[in-house]
Amino acid sequence: MCGIVAYIGKRQAYPILIKGLQRLEYRGYDSAGVALLNGAMHVYKKKGKVQELINFAKTQDCEGTLGMGHTRWATHGKPDDINAHPHTSGDGRLTLIHNGIIENYATLKTALMRLGHTFTSQTDTEVLVHLIEELQRREHLPIEEAVRVALTKVVGAYAIVVMDKTEPNKLVAARKASPLVLGIGQDEFFFASDASPIVEYTKKVVYLEDEQIAVAHRNGAYELRNIFKNQIEEPFVQQLNLTIEALEKGGYDSFMLKEIHEQPKTIGDCMRGRLNAEEGWIKLGGLEEYEQRIGNAQRFIIAACGTSWHAGLVAEYLFEELARIPVEVEYASELRYRNPIITDKDVVIAISQSGETADTLAALELAKSQGALIYGIVNVVGSSIARLTHAGSYIHAGPEIGVASTKAFTGQVTLLTMMALSLGYKRGKISKTQYHKLLTEMENLPSKMEQVLKVNEQVKYIASEIKDAPNALYLGRGYNFPVALEGALKLKEISYIHAEGYPAAEMKHGPIALIDENMPVVVICNNKSAYEKIVSNIQEVKARKGIVIAVVTEGDTIIKELADYIIEIPDTEEPFAPLLSVIPLQLLSYHIAVMRNCNVDQPRNLAKSVTVE
Ligand code: G6P
Repeated sequence: MCGIVAYIGKRQAYPILIKGLQRLEYRGYDSAGVALLNGAMHVYKKKGKVQELINFAKTQDCEGTLGMGHTRWATHGKPDDINAHPHTSGDGRLTLIHNGIIENYATLKTALMRLGHTFTSQTDTEVLVHLIEELQRREHLPIEEAVRVALTKVVGAYAIVVMDKTEPNKLVAARKASPLVLGIGQDEFFFASDASPIVEYTKKVVYLEDEQIAVAHRNGAYELRNIFKNQIEEPFVQQLNLTIEALEKGGYDSFMLKEIHEQPKTIGDCMRGRLNAEEGWIKLGGLEEYEQRIGNAQRFIIAACGTSWHAGLVAEYLFEELARIPVEVEYASELRYRNPIITDKDVVIAISQSGETADTLAALELAKSQGALIYGIVNVVGSSIARLTHAGSYIHAGPEIGVASTKAFTGQVTLLTMMALSLGYKRGKISKTQYHKLLTEMENLPSKMEQVLKVNEQVKYIASEIKDAPNALYLGRGYNFPVALEGALKLKEISYIHAEGYPAAEMKHGPIALIDENMPVVVICNNKSAYEKIVSNIQEVKARKGIVIAVVTEGDTIIKELADYIIEIPDTEEPFAPLLSVIPLQLLSYHIAVMRNCNVDQPRNLAKSVTVE
């Protein structure tokens, strides 16, 4: 949701900014822009991908050791060259890039217009740069102070970076509810939305806290302050644990394909050091810290969005069946606005790949204020959700760059499965024998996932058969119902085919009316329980001439007779079914999208990290 990168130091800024923008492009790709200061201020902005900006800038002056870059996911104003960032003050002295939303921008804009300001874009961001300009003009403040005072008048969420033509030895940045990281090099500094643009230059970083403003000086000094208290704050300097290889495609055509194939490794990483079947234990640091309170919770409330919400639905089945703890799964965007009843006996679990989703963050803040214990299942280390929660567990999936989430989903489900097993055993809801059996099978899952990935060519063939369908239906029962939702979401996101996920039996209450000989129906059938019921559902689809693509357990002969296409995957224990059955669906959407010439990693209108509500 908008990517920010900025540099001050001795190197040429432009190549650093462009490389950084390409790394951040997953956050938004409506338009991109840079501003460079080399005596004069040069601002280049282009609608479309970063490549458009590169093409344009080839013939421009790109000199300068101070600069900023931005890749946009439009909120206010359509994606075009004018609305692209950076935005410039009326006097041309300041440039600003912004991720987030200025909620009171209309009021501020009216007041500024009365003072004679004119605006060229439709963005909230341009209002902010004019507000800073106004304060500078009236009060003759240094840039960092003008920015700070302006931000005290702003309502909303932001990560910003500001440059001042008259102060070429300073870069000013600030954050509130949108991520921003400061990279500290040798007499040079970087600001970015995440560490990916910084990692090859320095491993020393500071994740800015909410309501902090930073000023980085060319001479190697920097300072952090609280925006509202105007007091200096001590930085918490961290070492980055991120490699360049993790940020590159590694020989795959797309990040999504790479990430699909990484899953045997990433779920293995998620379990490493946390699960030992032979010795019969699961250890999750965050869980142990609050063992009593979590184990005795009257209910779990899971808050999440998108794919993470689907992982939450799987968790509902896991926690209720294995640990006998009641669960409610909520869209974070609904939970935060519906005056929910939450008490200190509840545990609220947030699931988030990025750890920055605005709605999930807000729902957590609400739950925390009502006394609940909040637990985070997050991928991005040091992210806002990770820092807000009382306790939590990282899924350790590594950077996920494809906008359509794949390895984060299986990482989340793996983590939640370990939580459910551990709680179930400790609460006496699972026998020792059962616990041992399930743990042993969990350890087998990475190699079973490897086997599932071998269906790739077969899935590609099925994709070629159904790629032109305008609609698709995904059906599953029990643990595989959320997988049906996830499969449908993957198809919608990257191939733009309308798809719906349904509990298989619920099909009779509506979607069955849509089924004819043109409708592909993906049925996920690697269940043991309710197997006969699924078979009946397939018969119902076939009776209406639907095209059945069935994901089945190896050796299944009954469904093979009924389905048009079958995808066989290894047998596993029922609670682990989603971890294997989701993979063919990820591959199916991937191949269909490629065959339809869609941009798999950067689907239209979507962004990886949704930092606005
Ligand atoms: C966006 C992404 C999805 C993701 C959702 C929630 O819509 O495109 O892939 O599932 O946000 O994001 P989170 O980072 O909180 O898991």
